Amino acid sequence: LARGAGTADLAGVRVVVSAGGTREAIDPVRFLGNRSSGRQGYALAATAAARGASVTLLSANVELPDPAGVDVRRVTSARELREAVLEGAATADVVVMAAAVADFRPDTVTASKIKKTAGTTPAPIALVENPDILAEVSRERARPGQIVVGFAAETDNVLDNGRAKLARKGCDLLVVNQVGDGRAFGTADNQAVVLTAEGASVEIERGPKEDVADQVWDLVATRIPGDTG
Ligand code: CTP
Ligand code: CA
Repeated sequence: LARGAGTADLAGVRVVVSAGGTREAIDPVRFLGNRSSGRQGYALAATAAARGASVTLLSANVELPDPAGVDVRRVTSARELREAVLEGAATADVVVMAAAVADFRPDTVTASKIKKTAGTTPAPIALVENPDILAEVSRERARPGQIVVGFAAETDNVLDNGRAKLARKGCDLLVVNQVGDGRAFGTADNQAVVLTAEGASVEIERGPKEDVADQVWDLVATRIPGDTG
């Protein structure tokens, strides 16, 4: 199964992993959010740490225990996550964007709670696009040889959409999960294929998110300069 599981093959490697799902404020008590549980990102952080990496986990609205030996930092919105990722990327060898980042946020956050008024329909919530963190990190490459990994959940044309997305983002690896029919979101198991910038695709064995994570780290490890595996 995973080559490096149970070894210290990531010793000395600095990684930043984002996990969970961002929340975009509407008013002081409401937000736009998504169903990401954070499990895959937490599993990636935990397995990297177990393999000797120095791990910073940027956790967006996740209710899971902190993984052992991981520096966990909490963020809420996409823009906060962007700041934290860019700060972490400045010194990281590997950046993994496992978080579900809200594509849009409300244009304005009202200072007061939006109240209902009998007989009137509420004003529509105007949305603006959030920054694309993965594309930015991939483009900037804060350090030479930095490895950038993205995630994508697709329901249809999984491979075609994944390839187009990898090209659009400019990352090195894209882990594509097939979702729908209750797969991936909130479940312990995962089914994925990893696409590489060189055009290869590697099937990940179906299994617990920890095993998926170890297989992703195997692929990352082969791209780290000096790796002999
Ligand atoms: N991502 C990001 N910043 C965003 C949106 C997405 O960094 N504003 C990252 C996610 O963390 C993930 C990857 O990009 O690693 C793919 O996210 P996905 O939502 O599948 O891609 P999008 O470009 O937003 O495309 P879609 O229209 O399919 O949502
Ligand atoms: Ca998206």
